[in-house]
Amino acid sequence: MAAPELELIARALVAPGKGILAADESDSTIKKRFDSIGVESNEENRRAYRELLFTTAGAEEFISGVILFDETIRQSSVDGTAFPQLLESKGVIPGIKVDQGAKPLANAPGETITEGLDGLRDRLAEYRGLGARFAKWRATYTIGAGTPSEYCIWTNAHALARYAALCQEARIVPIVEPEVLMDGDHDVERAYHVTSRVLFALYTELHDQKVQLEGTLLKPNMILSGYSAPTQASDDEVADYTLRCFRERVPAAVPGIVFLSGGQSDEQATARLNAINARGPHPWELSFSYGRALQAPALKAWVGERGNVEAAQQAYYRRAKFNGAARSGTYAPEWETADVA
Ligand code: 13P
Repeated sequence: MAAPELELIARALVAPGKGILAADESDSTIKKRFDSIGVESNEENRRAYRELLFTTAGAEEFISGVILFDETIRQSSVDGTAFPQLLESKGVIPGIKVDQGAKPLANAPGETITEGLDGLRDRLAEYRGLGARFAKWRATYTIGAGTPSEYCIWTNAHALARYAALCQEARIVPIVEPEVLMDGDHDVERAYHVTSRVLFALYTELHDQKVQLEGTLLKPNMILSGYSAPTQASDDEVADYTLRCFRERVPAAVPGIVFLSGGQSDEQATARLNAINARGPHPWELSFSYGRALQAPALKAWVGERGNVEAAQQAYYRRAKFNGAARSGTYAPEWETADVA
């Protein structure tokens, strides 16, 4: 049995109707997001943008936790409240991204291994002191000719399990994120087979390294056609393939599966999560841990202007609410064009 404390946190993160906001963009990723709206990526703009998200009134009805970046967990709102404490005061659980990025994997052209294990025990202790109660580590896999290799799949699974074990030792819930990238022209069947191999390796390593699954969450890709594939699987097919793969590969001891949005549009990410939950009940909670799919409309509404903060918060609240409804399969695509706030 996982320490009851860890299981309670994992379960709170996937409470009915709620999911996670991924606001842990690294400096280079947030720069890309800000470039797209013509905003300079400096520390104050990053802080102001994250404050906008974290102070959105009522978002906590649908948001159980927020993943922060190293810079963000040390920042505060204008009134001087540290972000982790601000989130906690709303009943939102602070989390932290602890990997140090996907780097080229030696002897495997085009493949990556995620770094960040050295010194991780000490960093986790510090993050816990700053308020983090859960963490995230992302590995990436590319679908191509001969990739992902078994070498890439197993080295990343090993690292994910080492990270997860260290998190549990530090009384932090590990979110394990093996992301099979959906770039390319592969069909949905190929995405299913690759994701299945990745999950098999991951749960083998987690077991071998004695990670208590009850105190973990899985953050995977949905199973999609490649973004440039000529034929795109429908939302129903995505739901069917995704559920089939997870039923075969993810033990029921895992409390929840929180999807990343990848390159899906915000509306697609919601509609597919809804289709998945409409097929319930399932052995695990099926929720979201979206970055782009929760933030895209807010970023567009904000464009770095103080006068747009309220409109941006409304846009974020609306996406959070729609995804909250998708948790129970009760979202309706008509809401996108209706005046639903
Ligand atoms: P996206 O939802 O934008 O894919 O981001 C989620 C995430 O945290 C990726 O690591």
